[in-house]
Amino acid sequence: MSAGSPTVDLTKEAPMLLALERVDVFYGPVHALHQVSAEVDRGEVVAVLGGNASGKSTTIKTALQLVKPTRGRVLLDGEDLAPVSTPELVARGVASIPESRRLFPEMTVAENVLMGLYSQRRGLSRRELTSRLEEATTDFPRVRERFPQLAGTLSGGEQQMVAMARALIQRPQIILIDEPSMGLSPAYVDVVYDLLTRWKERGTTMMIVEQSAHRSLQLADRAYVLRNGEVVLAGTAAELRSNDEVTSAYLGGGVM
Ligand SMILES: Nc1ncnc2c1ncn2[C@@H]1O[C@H](COP(=O)(O)OP(=O)(O)OP(=O)(O)O)[C@@H](O)[C@H]1O
Ligand SMILES: [Mg+2]
Repeated sequence: MSAGSPTVDLTKEAPMLLALERVDVFYGPVHALHQVSAEVDRGEVVAVLGGNASGKSTTIKTALQLVKPTRGRVLLDGEDLAPVSTPELVARGVASIPESRRLFPEMTVAENVLMGLYSQRRGLSRRELTSRLEEATTDFPRVRERFPQLAGTLSGGEQQMVAMARALIQRPQIILIDEPSMGLSPAYVDVVYDLLTRWKERGTTMMIVEQSAHRSLQLADRAYVLRNGEVVLAGTAAELRSNDEVTSAYLGGGVM
């Protein structure tokens, strides 16, 4: 090897797919995240648990670059996202399913699912769009049946399915999911978590924030617990399921 040629360090591991490194986030005077570090590896499902106002949604918004940290870094595949906009990030394969689904109620179900392709759409033919729509809704027969219906007329559970299909149509590298079970009937919570389990089995990388640990800790490989914007616990899902503090605060229905 000649002097000056690049050396390859075989001991160096590939960077995590997504990493928050000691991130501080403020909303004006509100200090929402304090030195938060969290990582998601390829193929991993990571849960972020916490009570109301603990910083769960802010963690997702920070990963999506919807809010920019004042300190710390957010990395995708080792690259600092500070100069990257949210639309650019979506085009790089970071999808999200937001807290209140955020559908366009006056648009049809099919149009809402296709919004997932907003940043890639121009390059796709009509035929490709149709086939992507079919592909993304394979798991969602109820969504398919309702393609021409206005999204605002769907039930909460059906709207959640549309938001899930809208993320899937992007063929994302990672999906960031904010409280997928919020406001749903127990039957729909089962449906949503069965679908997320199927995604995990296919190797989909996910970060899921939840107030209720019950389902998310069954699904996740690892988890973080937030309190007042700080990570107070981190470990494998199995470790956290057997942690007394977590079981009393999150598995009994109460909130830490
Ligand atoms: N746009 C905003 N402007 C000012 N403060 C905000 C804003 N968004 C969030 N906050 C504050 O930041 C803190 C964390 O909020 P965040 O929404 O991340 O919590 P959360 O854990 O998702 O809560 P919830 O369980 O209610 O969804 C809260 O104190 C909240 O009031
Ligand atoms: Mg929230």
